[in-house]
Amino acid sequence: MARERRRRGPEGGARGPERGPQAARRARGVPAGRGRGWALLALLSLALGAAGLAYGLYGRWRLGRRVVTPHPAPRVLPAGSSGPRAAPERFWGSYRPHVYLGMRPRSPRPPVAGFMWLRQAAEARLRHTCEQSDGLPGYGWLLHDGLRFGAQEIRDRGLTLRTEFVKRPGGEHGGDWSWRVTARPESPGDQTSLVSLLFYVATDGQGTLQPHLENSRLVSVTGTSEELGHFNITFHRPTTETGEALSYASYNHLDARSPGLHRLTDVVKSSLSNRFVYAAPGGPKRRYFAVDTSRARPGEPDQAPQSHLLLHQVTLPLPCRVEVTFESGSFAERPGSLVGAALSEELAGHVAAFERRFEETFSLARKGFTPQQQRFAKAALSNMLGGMGYFHGHSIVQSAHSQHPLAYPEGPLFTAVPSRSFFPRGFLWDEGFHQLLLARWDPALTREVLAHWLDLMNVEGWIPREQILDDEARAKVPPEFILQHNEAANPPTLFLVLQQLLREPGQGPAELSYLRRLFPRLRTWYEWYNTTQAGPQPYAFRWRGRDQDTDLFLNPKTLTSGLDDYPRASHPSPAERHLDLRCWMALASGVMAEVAERLGEPAAEYRRMQQALSDNALLEQQHWAEQLGMFADYGNHSQAVGLEREKVAVGPGQPHHQLPAPRLVRVVRKPPKLQFVGALGYVSLFPFLLQLLRPDSPRLGSILGAMRSEQQLWTPYGLRSLARTSPLYMKHNTEHDPPYWRGPIWINMNYLAVRALHHYASLEGPYQQRAAALYQELRANLIANLYRQYLESGYLWEQYSDSTGQGRGCYPFTGWSALVVLMMAEEY
Ligand SMILES: *[C@@H]1O[C@H](CO)[C@@H](O)[C@H](O)[C@H]1NC(C)=O
Ligand SMILES: *[C@@H]1O[C@H](CO)[C@@H](O)[C@H](O)[C@H]1NC(C)=O
Ligand SMILES: *[C@@H]1O[C@H](CO)[C@@H](O)[C@H](O)[C@H]1NC(C)=O
Repeated sequence: MARERRRRGPEGGARGPERGPQAARRARGVPAGRGRGWALLALLSLALGAAGLAYGLYGRWRLGRRVVTPHPAPRVLPAGSSGPRAAPERFWGSYRPHVYLGMRPRSPRPPVAGFMWLRQAAEARLRHTCEQSDGLPGYGWLLHDGLRFGAQEIRDRGLTLRTEFVKRPGGEHGGDWSWRVTARPESPGDQTSLVSLLFYVATDGQGTLQPHLENSRLVSVTGTSEELGHFNITFHRPTTETGEALSYASYNHLDARSPGLHRLTDVVKSSLSNRFVYAAPGGPKRRYFAVDTSRARPGEPDQAPQSHLLLHQVTLPLPCRVEVTFESGSFAERPGSLVGAALSEELAGHVAAFERRFEETFSLARKGFTPQQQRFAKAALSNMLGGMGYFHGHSIVQSAHSQHPLAYPEGPLFTAVPSRSFFPRGFLWDEGFHQLLLARWDPALTREVLAHWLDLMNVEGWIPREQILDDEARAKVPPEFILQHNEAANPPTLFLVLQQLLREPGQGPAELSYLRRLFPRLRTWYEWYNTTQAGPQPYAFRWRGRDQDTDLFLNPKTLTSGLDDYPRASHPSPAERHLDLRCWMALASGVMAEVAERLGEPAAEYRRMQQALSDNALLEQQHWAEQLGMFADYGNHSQAVGLEREKVAVGPGQPHHQLPAPRLVRVVRKPPKLQFVGALGYVSLFPFLLQLLRPDSPRLGSILGAMRSEQQLWTPYGLRSLARTSPLYMKHNTEHDPPYWRGPIWINMNYLAVRALHHYASLEGPYQQRAAALYQELRANLIANLYRQYLESGYLWEQYSDSTGQGRGCYPFTGWSALVVLMMAEEY
């Protein structure tokens, strides 16, 4: 399952500093001296010893602190560059991807806005944060330009919600925005269902809010905060779908404190009571659930409330519409509130502009895709844009040199996320794939995201690979996975993005000065990989941080590679050579060389590295497994391994039910030896995927053959991750770890494959025709299946079954699965 992605174990298990020798040294004490001279000598040596010890401790402490020492180069994004003055148009956004609808400004601890809903039935099912367990038949942004507006459809059982927002620039604090939520019954005749729409504003430690009531209806909230200045939020009266006033609705509100934003759902849930009565004139009286200020739990008594919550609930029959406006106090020349007809008009204008820009960017109509297929592609792009999040806080990190976890420096991260429900936070290697798509839509956005990631770098050149920055993020991750270790790498896919940005036409002075700011960090980042992940011989590389506990896994995982359980050498050792990392380094070297050349910085060593790493003869020498007929990892490996049920000895008189359940443990039937690892799959394709092979290389022919073979990688739905003929194909790694990168189809790798086929189809050589034919076929298969699964299930998925094509893992996954848009557009 999807949870795999966030797992990793530090290399060598728990890795504190070795305490033994030091403790011994301390216990040893001072040798007893005989005369004065001896005593003096002893004293001197004691002082020296203590100084040495202190120096040693200091050195270790300093090494340990390096993990939380920021990179010394000036930040690519100076403080304030995301703020309302420097970037007013991006200040507010749907940057809370983990809720069905929410807005926040790009500010450290700002007031946020959000939405919940509740279908009135025998039990109250409150919807707020995106949860797979809600089992919604579909939700996601259908249109979203990443800047000014968005339109989302949410299908719940019994009703459909359309949530729209529009921003309007003006003033000095990021301007205004409006929401419109339209709720319709699932079946048009249904006049009996009652729905509650709940809108809230909540502070997060900074700023103040003031409720304004008319009878018991919360009409508006006024507030102030550091970066927002004065503002107000108005909850307009509900209307019909077409904007006519409704004669009756019930109102409730909540004014409560919460320990933090991560507990808002709990606070609201605990306040719900069904003592309220809905009594439309002439209709039957009905009890309904509503927030009840008298019941709201104040939060944990020992925790100062961080958050002030004001919530407006309106309860009414379907269909209906509610609008909310946010108005900024410094917006002086407002032409009128953005509601009703004015809002409709703005929305229509944005929709038309989006449609035009989408076609200009991706040409899907021109390529003959049907309007329905175009809608699918628009939804894929929009949901990635609508999944952009702004996070502020700090990671918890652990250095190999320190005993305790430390708080990483606090900072912001503006990033797309893999999945709004399951992974609503930044992941380093996913982001490279996300930005391949977004760079086509809005290169300025991509440049900013890239800068945010590189600004997270420490002095060592390390970037934590999973960004769990605030309480809301931490609430979604089991504690044991929160810690980030500083020897853990992740594929440096941001180089793919840089490569893409460098290709953009019209590289002016602004782009050059941007590159200049990036460069010191890029250099250190590259160096970090080149040294900490170096392999056993020149130009070979090795992922650190593999699982060490070889008994408990069929094959110890390599989470840092991004490919988690993809089979590697059965016995992790320093002798390993990892093919994928070597290819990533070839890519990184080439991009570094190009950036350095453009900036007039020393480029020769990067160029030399690139040439060495793309030298096909050297590549074959290190990674071509003649016997297997493919490229492969190399390491201490045994093919003959299996999981077997442990035998548990029963003691005399010991009752059976007290025995621990026997575990599955690994048995090695043939001892490992240094050899190539037989596991044909995505890793074997890397020299092709990253286009290192010469077009006339006979290995290219072998790779195309393996790709097209149905026994190996080919399926009607895309390329599977591991060949059917591979010993670990679709094998569990432990009793509870189902296969993840051992068969299912992943879209990021398939995108690289389609892109590489397109590349080789354009180069003369013996395999040109073959590549061109495979390109057509693979691209068509992927597009057809993702589209079909979207129509059937309502979502894009984390991965796809190689036997049925069905979506698997978590959803919605409009992270890299949205790369299908680039396949449709043939943008590589
Ligand atoms: C909200 O603020 C705007 C701008 O300051 C003002 O024009 C409007 O009257 C205010 N509305 C309410 C309900 O306070
Ligand atoms: C990468 O590391 C190797 C081995 O230490 C070194 O020879 C090479 O110069 C490094 N490459 C760059 C570009 O720094
Ligand atoms: C391979 O692994 C086995 C079992 O752990 C070990 O005994 C052997 O020394 C290893 N060989 C190498 C070359 O690392």
